[in-house]
Amino acid sequence: MMTLPIYVQGAWFLGALLFIFGLKGMSSPATARRGIVVAGYGMLVAVAGTFLVPGLQNLALMLVALVLGGAGAWISGQRVKMTDMPQMVAIYNGMGGGAAAGIAAVEFARGGSHHTITVVLAVIGALIGAVSFTGSCVAWAKLQGVLKKAYRLPAQNAVNVVLALAAVALGVAMVVSAPARPELVVGFFALALLLGLVVTLPIGGADMPVVISLFNAFTGLAVGFEGYVLGNPALIIAGIVVGAAGTLLTQLMAKAMNRPLSNILFTPMVAAGSGEAISGTMKEVGPIDAAAMMRYAAKVIIVPGYGMAVAHAQHKVWEMTELLEEAGVEVKFAIHPVAGRMPGHMNVLLAEAGVPYDKIFDLDEINGEFGQADVALIIGANDVVNPTARTDKSSPIYGMPILNADQAQNVIVIKRGKGTGYSGVENALFYTDNCRMLYGDAQPMAAEIIQHLKTMG
Ligand code: TAP
Repeated sequence: MMTLPIYVQGAWFLGALLFIFGLKGMSSPATARRGIVVAGYGMLVAVAGTFLVPGLQNLALMLVALVLGGAGAWISGQRVKMTDMPQMVAIYNGMGGGAAAGIAAVEFARGGSHHTITVVLAVIGALIGAVSFTGSCVAWAKLQGVLKKAYRLPAQNAVNVVLALAAVALGVAMVVSAPARPELVVGFFALALLLGLVVTLPIGGADMPVVISLFNAFTGLAVGFEGYVLGNPALIIAGIVVGAAGTLLTQLMAKAMNRPLSNILFTPMVAAGSGEAISGTMKEVGPIDAAAMMRYAAKVIIVPGYGMAVAHAQHKVWEMTELLEEAGVEVKFAIHPVAGRMPGHMNVLLAEAGVPYDKIFDLDEINGEFGQADVALIIGANDVVNPTARTDKSSPIYGMPILNADQAQNVIVIKRGKGTGYSGVENALFYTDNCRMLYGDAQPMAAEIIQHLKTMG
């Protein structure tokens, strides 16, 4: 492999450093926006450095690809709605996996390196990149509503295993016979792409965020492996950083849902049929009483969930919070790690509405405070406050850590009707004596509460 000029290596090294600093910034909502920009500059520097590689061919093609890809990403990034973010992440992620697999395909097609380690890494990168590509495309189609059903084959798990083993066997044959015959390479890629489809098709839409995060980790690894094949340290470091971050995020989500990853991938979530019987009745409250309960409280904890995102109610919720604070009420936000449908979903929405970060608390930080709250206001959240998760061993959410909203003096729940949450499990909290239901879409309900708070002065 030729030695690259110092300015190319320097640009790639600088790009890699910026990726690491960017990721560090993304670890806190306060610095996340800056982190994204820093990582973006890292990508710019790394790409610019690539154009300085001596003897580069196909410059015109590279420029066309850059313009097309850049324009597409710019336009879709401007237009995407916050609730459509998971599918956008899925498709960008798939593109990364596809690109890694594409790099490997080109290397195989031109006979590439015969060095065993390089071929092994190219094959591994190609396999996980191709799986991530088709899997992410399915994830996008499901979240976008293009694919509405979960397609499960008979003996699904056995089919997955057979396909995976067959792809690995062809990969081994490619390493042993390097440079591999074209039929072998085509067969290998066909199986790998099919594997991504078949593994992802049966998974339900609501489990997709975890799967997308897993594919994100896959893409990172695939890019890292192909970075080694190309001798490009920026790709290696970016790949490792993405792979590690994706793996940690996947584990975090699986843990927060108390579902092992194997369970998410191989056992579709089903609603509890015969969970423990729930006693009591649901009691209704009107917006005026809800407003009064909060206006004359000392401490209110707000628990937002998926319904707040669907209703785009975050701006009204913040307006309501400001009015309560003006009246001397202490207001805090409690965020469950899997509230909503993607990691950080609620944090992003609340930040967008202008809620200061120091009012937003994670489960561990706030759970001890519900006992001292006069009101827990639950807005479009359900599973993340379901006490059944603590007690009912037959429930699919048994063991999932929940926010202790039931320990507040009073609980007010804003939701449209008696619908269950994502898990399909009835919520025992809604039937307790201290809980009142405020039925309606989260946005107009928050607006009505605001009107009443204004008249209460
Ligand atoms: P959910 O349990 O899904 O409950 C949302 C509630 O919002 C529903 O009960 C629904 O009741 C209500 N709702 C829907 N539209 C509404 C609207 N326009 N106005 C008011 N309410 C509305 O949400 P959650 O508590 O946020 O929990 C998240 C769930 O998603 C968990 O089970 C979690 O495991 C799962 N999940 C999350 C993630 C991530 S990373 N966040 C990933 C995978 C899975 P009505 O129909 O009666 O209105």
